Amino acid sequence: MDDSFYDKTSQTQDVNYEQSLRPPAFSEFHGQDKIKERLTLMVEAAQQRGDVLEHVLLSGPPGLGKTTLANIISGAAGTQLHTTSGPQIEKAGDLAGILTNVQKGDILFIDEIHRLHPAIEEYLYPAMEDFRLDIIIDSGPSARSIQLNLPKFTLVGATTRAGMLTSPLRSRFGLVNRLDYYKKEELAVIIERSAGLLEIEITPEGAAEIAARSRGTPRIANNLLRWVRDFAQVKADGKISADIANKALAMIEIDEDGLDEMDKRILESVIYKFNGGPVGLSSVAVAVGEDASTLEEVHEPFLIMQGFLKRTPRGRVAMPTAYTKIGATPPKNTGELL
Ligand SMILES: Nc1ncnc2c1ncn2[C@@H]1O[C@H](COP(=O)(O)OP(=O)(O)OP(=O)(O)O)[C@@H](O)[C@H]1O
Ligand SMILES: [Mg+2]
Repeated sequence: MDDSFYDKTSQTQDVNYEQSLRPPAFSEFHGQDKIKERLTLMVEAAQQRGDVLEHVLLSGPPGLGKTTLANIISGAAGTQLHTTSGPQIEKAGDLAGILTNVQKGDILFIDEIHRLHPAIEEYLYPAMEDFRLDIIIDSGPSARSIQLNLPKFTLVGATTRAGMLTSPLRSRFGLVNRLDYYKKEELAVIIERSAGLLEIEITPEGAAEIAARSRGTPRIANNLLRWVRDFAQVKADGKISADIANKALAMIEIDEDGLDEMDKRILESVIYKFNGGPVGLSSVAVAVGEDASTLEEVHEPFLIMQGFLKRTPRGRVAMPTAYTKIGATPPKNTGELL
């Protein structure tokens, strides 16, 4: 299958769609109820006190709504959002440049915050805690440190790899939120909303069919919706029913559980090449010809959540359902490996 279903920037058109489909307020953001409740409360409390929001960390697999939530928080609080990402901040000067443009109450959104350079992280600590930036200018004997006082701001960090965050950084966030995969029913609502915005006619059964195969992920749901829309337009009368959705998704080889070619390759490799595991992720990555971090961020969490794979101290192990999925017979002793 084409990787563009996962890749958020593969086409400019995708980016435009993402923007137009992005819910602008909590009221239009479906699912993640606990997180929504906490954030709404936090915004309300800060507004009542006339105070600035606490720093917030949003973590979870790609496409679940971290960037969307950062935008919604900023809108709800009525403050300006400044967006950057971990790898974009290369020097202390870059951070100073961003922070000196921030006004009181503004939100600084750092995407992929786990990819911040360790040296930059050190600068961020006093900025988050005391709203102060100590930067060293010059080097050698003439090096001296200057202190910049910053307005009180809110840092919203997003990460797909919460485990890679250092504990000093993590502990400086007032609120840590882990986004989870969405339920099918929630995705169906999101799909119907998107269909409305794109003026696509879809039956509830059609939406449910797409939702079931979207790997718990709104971005994938929206991408699949667009594909099914194209299919419906060319092969039928444009209206999306369960049957049309089924045929359209079969054409791009997404199975009834939302597994794609790469997912199946991963399961096949663990089962056939590594005897069902336990096997290290990097060995699987080499075997399937995919980047280890993509496996870890995109494919593995979903396969684990669905019960096809299990992570053990000795490596990844294929579960009986994985054997059934690829048409192999589960060994009698899978239980012993766990
Ligand atoms: N709860 C939701 N309700 C409706 N649409 C949603 C929701 N969450 C996400 N989306 C849709 O999914 C798309 C992807 O969301 P977003 O860009 O916020 O994900 P992300 O978590 O930031 O992903 P990444 O880790 O790749 O940056 C958005 O454009 C939006 O249209
Ligand atoms: Mg994002």
